[in-house]
Amino acid sequence: MFTLSTAITIALGLGLSSTEVSAHRGCGGHEVAKRNPGGPVINSLAELRGFSKRQTTSTMDEASEAAISDPNQECTAYSYQPVVDVKSQFPTIWETASLVDGDTEASALFATINQTLNAKFPNATPKGTKAGDWSASASYNATDPDCWWTYKQCTTPAASLNIAADKTTVPEPETWGLAFDDGPNCSHNAFYDYLQNNGQKATMFYIGSNVLDWPLQAQRGHVDGHELCIHTWSHQYMTGMSNEEAFAELYYTQKAIKTVTGLTPTCWRPPFGDVDNRIRVIASGLNLTNYVWSDDSEDWRAFAAGSTVTEDDVTKNYQNVIAGVANGTYATHGPIVLTHEINNGTMQEFVSQYDSIKAAFKYIVPLASAFNITQPYAETNETYPDFMTYTNQSTSSSSSSSSTTSASGSNASGSSGSTTAASASKASGSTASDSKNSAASVSFGYSGVFASVALFIAGGAMLA
Ligand SMILES: *[C@@H]1O[C@H](CO)[C@@H](O)[C@H](O)[C@H]1NC(C)=O
Ligand SMILES: *[C@@H]1O[C@H](CO)[C@@H](O)[C@H](O)[C@H]1NC(C)=O
Ligand SMILES: *[C@@H]1O[C@H](CO)[C@@H](O)[C@H](O)[C@H]1NC(C)=O
Ligand SMILES: *[C@@H]1O[C@H](CO)[C@@H](O)[C@H](O)[C@H]1NC(C)=O
Ligand SMILES: *[C@@H]1O[C@H](CO)[C@@H](O)[C@H](O)[C@H]1NC(C)=O
Ligand SMILES: *[C@@H]1O[C@H](CO)[C@@H](O)[C@H](O)[C@H]1NC(C)=O
Ligand SMILES: *[C@@H]1O[C@H](CO)[C@@H](O)[C@H](O)[C@H]1NC(C)=O
Ligand SMILES: *[C@@H]1O[C@H](CO)[C@@H](O)[C@H](O)[C@H]1NC(C)=O
Ligand SMILES: *[C@@H]1O[C@H](CO)[C@@H](O)[C@H](O)[C@H]1NC(C)=O
Ligand SMILES: *[C@@H]1O[C@H](CO)[C@@H](O)[C@H](O)[C@H]1NC(C)=O
Ligand SMILES: [Zn+2]
Repeated sequence: MFTLSTAITIALGLGLSSTEVSAHRGCGGHEVAKRNPGGPVINSLAELRGFSKRQTTSTMDEASEAAISDPNQECTAYSYQPVVDVKSQFPTIWETASLVDGDTEASALFATINQTLNAKFPNATPKGTKAGDWSASASYNATDPDCWWTYKQCTTPAASLNIAADKTTVPEPETWGLAFDDGPNCSHNAFYDYLQNNGQKATMFYIGSNVLDWPLQAQRGHVDGHELCIHTWSHQYMTGMSNEEAFAELYYTQKAIKTVTGLTPTCWRPPFGDVDNRIRVIASGLNLTNYVWSDDSEDWRAFAAGSTVTEDDVTKNYQNVIAGVANGTYATHGPIVLTHEINNGTMQEFVSQYDSIKAAFKYIVPLASAFNITQPYAETNETYPDFMTYTNQSTSSSSSSSSTTSASGSNASGSSGSTTAASASKASGSTASDSKNSAASVSFGYSGVFASVALFIAGGAMLA
């Protein structure tokens, strides 16, 4: 694993230069806690672990899991039969995914995508390691032909490739695009209760291994009306993977979510934002839209062991985004802020900030609604409210889904600042350059030891 201390050592040992590869641009730069102390969940036998009756496989369901309020009990490993039944059709949890032997459907789809890859990028090789060691890419072409986000935050691949630009902001003014990464976290009930009680929906970027570890928690995400998206199988650097591995990381996460919720997501976010054209083509072969972000709350740093980023720093990061409303930063678009479901600290931080976000922004919306994506899944029977519907500015057609149903549940006491259709604020077309500019102005003023966590590569020269 590429560790922070390694990165710091390397960064301190070299001068800065104009070309840099930032290994840790957010999103779980620390190692994501892969399993709870309970151990490998779907390999364990619930009975042997002396679980309470309620948690035996026969009585276990989404509603009873969602009703647990003690985080330790929430995070008690359980064995869920529908997952046990299909486990052999998936890669090993928390290990790099690859095609599962005998999976002819996956192999056939990959063969097609591989053909496209070989035609478009005949000489492409993985960039560094899956753990984010870029020394092997130290001579990476400074013109950034691969539109490698980790290198210089490129989000707009050459038009000739016909790949949509990564989405970094939402097109609606004074609107906060709400998304949480790294879930489902076993202990998320207090957090999801809070969202539910506020009538607030969000986009959830789920890790495939977490989905199979905690299938009932993943089901709650859907039942509560959140939008489910993909955040890879094992949460590693995608550009460090082979074609097959990168495909499998996405494919089996999509399949895991389909298995436990019945839905096939069409959106994803690369861990650490690490994406390039080769990876974009693979994702696009799976019909996945790539959402990155404009601002990093750095919550993922603050609550990690040994981190020097404090809770106060995270609060300042939130407040800095919020302050942008007053000076017009969000007159024509809104931020997508990197926030996490990863642990109690990151979830509680959002809870603490919610009221002030609501007070400053007109709307806080899940990404599908921000982009009027009314069919966010491959299954067209499931619909999602478009922007006007979600914000109660119109009662349009798309209101037949479970999402919409729960979105208008009676528990929306707080609701989002502007229940009454204040101004039918028009989305004054967020152009590619809007997105780019705001992506460029992303970084928070925070500077501390961790801010220097980056590999600096002098003029394309090799790192020692
Ligand atoms: C995918 O393409 C590579 C060449 O880039 C090839 O080595 C590999 O065998 C192909 N994989 C499959 C499963 O076809
Ligand atoms: C870098 O890429 C550009 C095209 O983007 C190409 O013209 C140039 O030859 C490349 N340089 C090297 C050293 O590969
Ligand atoms: C839509 O179809 C999927 C798969 O067929 C099913 O699991 C899901 O329950 C359906 N959803 C609705 C809202 O009918
Ligand atoms: C992607 O979407 C197109 C159009 O709906 C569909 O024909 C195709 O099968 C989808 N591809 C995958 C891999 O699901
Ligand atoms: C607006 O305020 C934010 C937060 O204080 C700040 O980061 C940004 O630079 C300001 N922008 C302008 C144009 O003044
Ligand atoms: C989920 O959250 C709990 C409580 O904060 C934490 O201990 C655990 O490591 C998290 N699990 C994962 C898989 O991130
Ligand atoms: C975080 O933990 C505290 C202390 O156990 C608890 O009161 C709070 O509800 C938790 N917050 C979230 C969002 O889970
Ligand atoms: C979403 O729909 C609203 C209302 O029709 C429209 O103003 C807005 O431009 C649409 N946004 C996008 C991204 O299409
Ligand atoms: C609203 O919340 C209350 C208390 O938390 C609960 O008793 C009630 O069932 C909830 N109603 C809905 C529609 O979720
Ligand atoms: C829209 O109205 C419903 C029903 O009154 C409410 O529950 C919900 O919170 C409102 N949503 C917003 C974004 O104001
Ligand atoms: Zn992540």
